[in-house]
Amino acid sequence: MRTAGAGLVASRMIGREVRIAGWVHRRRDLGGLVFLDLRDRSGILQVSVGPEWSSELALDAVRGLGVEDVILVRGVVAARPEAARNPDMATGDVEVQASGLEVLNKARTPAIPVYLPPEEELPSEKLRLRHRVLDLRRRELQAKLELRHRLVLAVRNYFDGQGFYEIETPILTKPTPEGARDFLVPSRVHPGEFFALPQSPQIYKQLLMIAGFDRYVQIARCFRDEDLRADRQPEFTQIDVEASFVQPDDIFGWCEGLMAKLAEVADIDATPPFRRLSYHDAMERYGSDRPDMRYDLEIRDCTDVLGALESGILRGAVARGGRIRGLALEGGARLARKQIVALEDAARAAGAPGLLWAKVTETGATGPLGRFFRDDTGARLGVAAGDLLVVAAGADRVTSPALDAARAAAVRALQLPRVTEHAWLWVTGFPVFEDAGDGALAANHHPFVHPDPADAHLLDSDPLAVRGLAYDLVYNGTELGSGSIRNHDADMQTRILALLGLDPDEIARKFGFLLEALRSGAPPHGGIALGVDRLAARFSGGSSLRDVIAFPKTTAARASFEGAPSGVSPEELNALGIRIGAHE
Ligand code: AMO
Repeated sequence: MRTAGAGLVASRMIGREVRIAGWVHRRRDLGGLVFLDLRDRSGILQVSVGPEWSSELALDAVRGLGVEDVILVRGVVAARPEAARNPDMATGDVEVQASGLEVLNKARTPAIPVYLPPEEELPSEKLRLRHRVLDLRRRELQAKLELRHRLVLAVRNYFDGQGFYEIETPILTKPTPEGARDFLVPSRVHPGEFFALPQSPQIYKQLLMIAGFDRYVQIARCFRDEDLRADRQPEFTQIDVEASFVQPDDIFGWCEGLMAKLAEVADIDATPPFRRLSYHDAMERYGSDRPDMRYDLEIRDCTDVLGALESGILRGAVARGGRIRGLALEGGARLARKQIVALEDAARAAGAPGLLWAKVTETGATGPLGRFFRDDTGARLGVAAGDLLVVAAGADRVTSPALDAARAAAVRALQLPRVTEHAWLWVTGFPVFEDAGDGALAANHHPFVHPDPADAHLLDSDPLAVRGLAYDLVYNGTELGSGSIRNHDADMQTRILALLGLDPDEIARKFGFLLEALRSGAPPHGGIALGVDRLAARFSGGSSLRDVIAFPKTTAARASFEGAPSGVSPEELNALGIRIGAHE
């Protein structure tokens, strides 16, 4: 039908006859002459329809055209007059002078505009998701999905080059614990029984290692019924990786090599080796297990110096076993009251009662904390006139998230310079367990993480202190991936499931198939999964996963273009043996 893409027509084609097909992006009527911007995936091209070079048929057709109509244009590539050239457009030096124009399909007036004059704002995201097909016609979204395609292609090539096989694992499966709720699928053939959609291929990839596949990768769709946030979708994609006879360094090496390749595709920087930080140090120095290392601002422990001041709040916190930790913000004394309140609000939103602050001056300090300063307090903390000190007092589990949030807010308020645009980090040694309250333990990640042999002796006496051979890959403060070395020993795996509170029956019922496989000669193995949606979103300079998923779910977990979820007929429910009752 066509000889070239609209965006690919160039000066070297001047004088050539071409056929171009696409959508009417804009139409400008200058009396005798009509200009059309014709758009397809490759870009936009100006088509001019005028009495000198266009047939009567073309002139007739153009009069009835509306935006988003689909047309086929035949014509000759011509140079634009000097004054009409557009340096902002890839095809801005040329136009096609239409000799023929055929309407392939009419479009209704679009519910949301595809062409937007530069000064106009996009319609609301809600409206754009409702009319996703039109929204997807925008260059910005097309470019993001193109980048995603190139990234995934590079992933496959990279792992193929390293000897990995891509193997598909089931979608209709048994629950895989990853800490979220399962999406359940009723079985019609076995009424009252349910499949779960996989939260990840975790157990299957371990089974593949036991089956001897050695190196596995899958671009895997995962499903988690959890509350949505900007960086979470109920349905998302992982680069899922597993390998046998490996140690964490092997996984780091592959991932760093992969990121370097993907960075080339996305034109960013990822130069291995990446920095490493233990989970303990990340929490201590940044209050977060995924610190944004673009900024050189660390938390410090001020308990000794500040705990000795005459402040009831501080003394009380220390007496209850807490610490006083804070951020010394160089030049921060210039922040207005309102900006300091914003730091406090950030800490409160993260669950802390608040922050205390001191503005350091030539003669002492001011503010709710500053008024307790003694002559040497500033010097002992290493803060000088013009600085702002903000602190949180209490248990680390409260102050860490508060200071993490305050750090992010301070970075914004002070417009701190970045030490790099692309900060890569491995966080290692995550705890195996977390406190689930009432003396119960929960898996900090999933229950298959191998304890660090150095801590294995603490499993019964102090399980919360046991570190795992577990790691996360963090890019500019986003967790891109997470993985671990697994328990290949059935007894250790059983012991951990028991520590998580599962009784032998439950262990057999839920994980019997895994334990049976582990007992059949399981190699030591480990792996990682990297989020494709997060990768594509960050690498295309955005933050919303919805921009890199063609048909994403809304924050209310709905598919708004196609309208899902939706009710089903009583007959369908009946066939599944399901009756809908009242639910909370
Ligand atoms: P985890 O649950 O940490 O690990 O997930 C790995 C990576 O997947 C991405 N991710 C998500 N992306 C979008 N929406 C979500 N709801 C979502 N949840 C997770 C993140 C995350 O870092 N089986 C283990 C991996 C392993 O141990 O090998 C797992 O799934 O980028």
